[in-house]
Amino acid sequence: MTDPGERLRSSLTADQSAGAEFDSPIAAEAMRATRVLHAADQEPFPAPGRIRVITVANQKGGVGKTTSTVNLGVALAMYGVRTLVIDLDPQGNTSTALGVEHTVGTPSIYDALIGDATLAEVAHPTTASPHLRCVPATIDLAGAEIELVSVVAREHRLRRAIEAYLHEQPADQKPGYVLIDCPPSLGLLTLNALVAGDEVLIPIQCEYYALEGLGQLISNIDLVRAHLNPGISVSTILLTMYDGRTKLADQVADEVRSHFGDLVLKAVIPRNVRVSEAPGYGQSVLTYDPGSRGSTSYVEAARELAERGARLEPRTPPPPPMPPAGPPVAALVLGEPVTTRGLTGRHGS
Ligand SMILES: Nc1ncnc2c1ncn2[C@@H]1O[C@H](COP(=O)(O)OP(=O)(O)O)[C@@H](O)[C@H]1O
Ligand SMILES: [Mg+2]
Repeated sequence: MTDPGERLRSSLTADQSAGAEFDSPIAAEAMRATRVLHAADQEPFPAPGRIRVITVANQKGGVGKTTSTVNLGVALAMYGVRTLVIDLDPQGNTSTALGVEHTVGTPSIYDALIGDATLAEVAHPTTASPHLRCVPATIDLAGAEIELVSVVAREHRLRRAIEAYLHEQPADQKPGYVLIDCPPSLGLLTLNALVAGDEVLIPIQCEYYALEGLGQLISNIDLVRAHLNPGISVSTILLTMYDGRTKLADQVADEVRSHFGDLVLKAVIPRNVRVSEAPGYGQSVLTYDPGSRGSTSYVEAARELAERGARLEPRTPPPPPMPPAGPPVAALVLGEPVTTRGLTGRHGS
């Protein structure tokens, strides 16, 4: 069987090495854009073996959580896999990048968490792809962290909303992927996302102190698994903002690979200005500049994610029922930082 991913990869590599055939970098990029868009029509990604609810988390800000959620979501949808993206950050950057309205008063994830709306009622279509829907976040969500503290089953609100959504949607509308973009903290919103997800995707920036705080994130995930969501585990690590000109980026990438092994996607996202420009136009980099390195690398990352997902077994029997009550949220959120063996969190010094 031919591997379409391999075909795209090798044709893109061929473009690079046959640079002389093209008059200019622009011509080469236009060629890459055509390849990416053509492949989206002709060589769809495989559907996952079961619906995947993936929480994109890292309590550090600016590591590429939002950028990765948006661009992986758009890539999956453009390549034919129905995807729901949930913006769980009050800043609403995911909503902005997908061109979805998120001014105060817009029906949003806040309404679904508080129980005033179903997720279906607050999921908006996107212009990026008919297969992609987005639940926006408005600034109202900033208050939810406090409001939820006194609400029944406060850690399970998002999980219940997603379960109801997946149950209600007709078979041909059910998403294969639900991606949840977390805020840069380990508060109640991120906790809801960890209880809702089956998998965690951690974006790691190839920079100084990239690994700092990862130990605490991983120990929180362990606590959530022990007390609130036995099904959760870290399934995927994505290296972002890689700058091939620096030794440091390679050192970080090597250390992450040696620690996390096969969890780390082979595709690495380079630092690319088109990636950072795209949200300003309410777009993903795939729609803003499909031939850019940022776009092709997100397509490759999404393809790997999809290929791994296709190998997952359907979930039988259903996951064990969740325990009625977990430990106090404060214990999870403010738990002692745990040092993860082997992660130094320091590079290049
Ligand atoms: N591959 C990249 N190349 C260049 N800039 C990037 C890249 N990935 C993210 N950025 C920029 O870095 C900043 C932080 O990224 P973001 O996805 O918002 O991080 P987070 O959601 O983890 O806080 C944003 O301005 C974004 O546009
Ligand atoms: Mg963000």
